[in-house]
Amino acid sequence: MSAGDRKEIKVGILGATGTVGQRFIQLLSSHPYFKIHALGASSRSAGQQYGKITKWKLNTPIPENIKSMIVQECKPTSGGFSECGVVFSGLDADVAGEIEEAFRSAELIIFSNSKNYRRDPLCPLIVPLVNPSHLSIIPHQKKSLGLEKGYIVTNANCSTTGLVVPLAALEKAFGPLETVMVTTLQAISGAGYPGVSSLDILDNVVPHISGEEEKIEWETNKILGGLNSNNESFNLHSDEKENLKPINVSATTTRVPVIDGHTGVVNVKFNSSRPKPSIEEIEKAFREFKCEAQELNVPSAPEQAIVVHDLPDRPQPRLDRDLHNGACVSVGRIRPCPVFDVKFVCLIDNVRLGAATSSIMNAEIAVEKGLIV
Ligand SMILES: NC(=O)c1ccc[n+]([C@@H]2O[C@H](COP(=O)([O-])OP(=O)(O)OC[C@H]3O[C@@H](n4cnc5c(N)ncnc54)[C@H](OP(=O)(O)O)[C@@H]3O)[C@@H](O)[C@H]2O)c1
Repeated sequence: MSAGDRKEIKVGILGATGTVGQRFIQLLSSHPYFKIHALGASSRSAGQQYGKITKWKLNTPIPENIKSMIVQECKPTSGGFSECGVVFSGLDADVAGEIEEAFRSAELIIFSNSKNYRRDPLCPLIVPLVNPSHLSIIPHQKKSLGLEKGYIVTNANCSTTGLVVPLAALEKAFGPLETVMVTTLQAISGAGYPGVSSLDILDNVVPHISGEEEKIEWETNKILGGLNSNNESFNLHSDEKENLKPINVSATTTRVPVIDGHTGVVNVKFNSSRPKPSIEEIEKAFREFKCEAQELNVPSAPEQAIVVHDLPDRPQPRLDRDLHNGACVSVGRIRPCPVFDVKFVCLIDNVRLGAATSSIMNAEIAVEKGLIV
């Protein structure tokens, strides 16, 4: 069935006034079958018109039909949420855990950007260009919790997402990786609004983002691992029978004065039991990487999952974050590493593929798999 033939599915957005929430609104307002039906935020915003209360920061205007919508409290019984086929969450992590659980218990389907359920053994952590197969745990999640319809799907930390897409391409072409080192240069919008104060970030690099390195180091193995054969648990990239071990990941994260777009400087060591690929073979693996989201032809899938840049000074956030509507990962500077095997630079739009676009694409894939009706 083509996207245009699908029947309309009403969607809600939690955290609709925030940085990620605004992207949800921008992206969903022209979606072929998801229709924005309910908006939620804190009690500071609830009861007021979206257009009046939101500090809109995108360079397209607030869609006309959204401006006058009344922001609701984030309760499953608040106006309109109970009628939604999907609820997207861009909630602050301090409150996301409890609110998302309340929505799931009320038999609603949540696609979340927050960190709270990423490590949950029942919740898939899905980067849509990498591991949509992890949606197969959903029947087990619902059964374990005694639910008929409600479940939670999470997407990854924004920097993790930019890293695992090229890593998945390398594993697909050349087998399991052994060690990955990444240093990130992360945009200010990754910290939400108002984020880092201008006096801290202008003319500066801040070499610490709380909790970020641990997320990258842990999430990578859940995403690049598989589901066990009964579809009831994740193997976290390890399997004794297959001699598969978790990838050693070491991350250093920094905040830089860029508005949107996280850059990653990556070094990779391949498993020593296999012949090492050449730089040309690695470039080809990136260029030819195809994923399930593209095969399913879901509306938000980029034509190209990984864009390989040939110029020696690319990718750059300002020039390359908008490629494929912010739904791809850019890779450049692919070259031999005298300490590891290969090094390269990657770039992701942290608020689109790093957040809202991933949630939407995950939900589109769930629609294709009959998990949202
Ligand atoms: N920014 C990124 O690049 C990015 C990328 C990936 C994942 N994430 C994750 O996505 C989530 C949202 O991030 P963000 O950058 O959009 O943050 P943000 O700009 O600070 O927005 C937070 C949202 O949460 C709402 N909120 C705060 N307290 C609440 C409460 N007590 N009850 C209900 N709603 C409440 C806010 O509503 P009010 O306006 O009413 O306060 C706002 O809509 C976070 O968990 C973040 O870690 C962000």
